[in-house]
Amino acid sequence: MKTLRTVDELREARGALDGTVGLVPTMGSFHEGHLALFRTARAENDVVVASLFVNPAQFEEDRDLAAYPRDEARDAELAEKAGVDVLFAPSPDELYPPAYETWVDVERLGSVLEGRWRPGHFRGVATVCLKLFNLVRPDRAYFGQKDAQQTAVVRRLVRDLNVPVEIRVLPTVRDEDGLALSSRNARLTRQERQQALALPRALATRDPEQARRLLDGLSVDYVEIADFEPEVLAAAVRVGNTRLIDNVVLEGETA
Ligand code: PAJ
Repeated sequence: MKTLRTVDELREARGALDGTVGLVPTMGSFHEGHLALFRTARAENDVVVASLFVNPAQFEEDRDLAAYPRDEARDAELAEKAGVDVLFAPSPDELYPPAYETWVDVERLGSVLEGRWRPGHFRGVATVCLKLFNLVRPDRAYFGQKDAQQTAVVRRLVRDLNVPVEIRVLPTVRDEDGLALSSRNARLTRQERQQALALPRALATRDPEQARRLLDGLSVDYVEIADFEPEVLAAAVRVGNTRLIDNVVLEGETA
């Protein structure tokens, strides 16, 4: 696996690639959710590119950005084992050089649900994803159903801006106790983790009223049916200082 740090290096490497390219955008701190995306990209493409970039544009608070877990050496090893060929790990300046001022705003989809609680978040996500699509020019890009709204925003941007990439969405990977894997889970104390289990249990009812009842006592930002493709029951709760999001698909496949 090659690790590339600059846009110039990536452009050069991309030019030399033959065959189909799968891109997996990430912010690192890899767990089985990320590894499932890498492995599927590996199985479906000739070349797998992963990006590892803790995107400052999608964090509203500097504190949150600074607290994001980082361990590039571990991530590089896991990515290589899962079949990644190229790891693009640029510095913030490389993607947002001085005088940067262009943003992609997916207006409605980016402002409901998570967007209401995290203003500007999906603008940051959409912008960095479009930049990565332009740089890597992948045939397919891989996202997790865990972040259902992010997936919906990316699908919308690809349609609206005619980006020639196929968006592939893979099911949410969960721990044995049902909690969806997330780099944020590491911040939960044992007691908080027990409380957090109410989230997957509530969503498993697939009913907003029942789910709301089961989440009683937790600090709930929202529990709502969202008209994404596919439709989901989505929720965000806060357990201690940790904010968790999760969703279940309401139609067709269960994920
Ligand atoms: P990150 O949180 O690192 O997630 C990278 C990808 O892994 C996303 O597509 C996310 O949905 C997927 N993922 C995370 N947890 C998962 C789980 N438990 N099961 C399945 N997939 C899971 O999401 C981002 O980074 C960023 O917003 C990014 C798209 C990279 C833009 O900066």
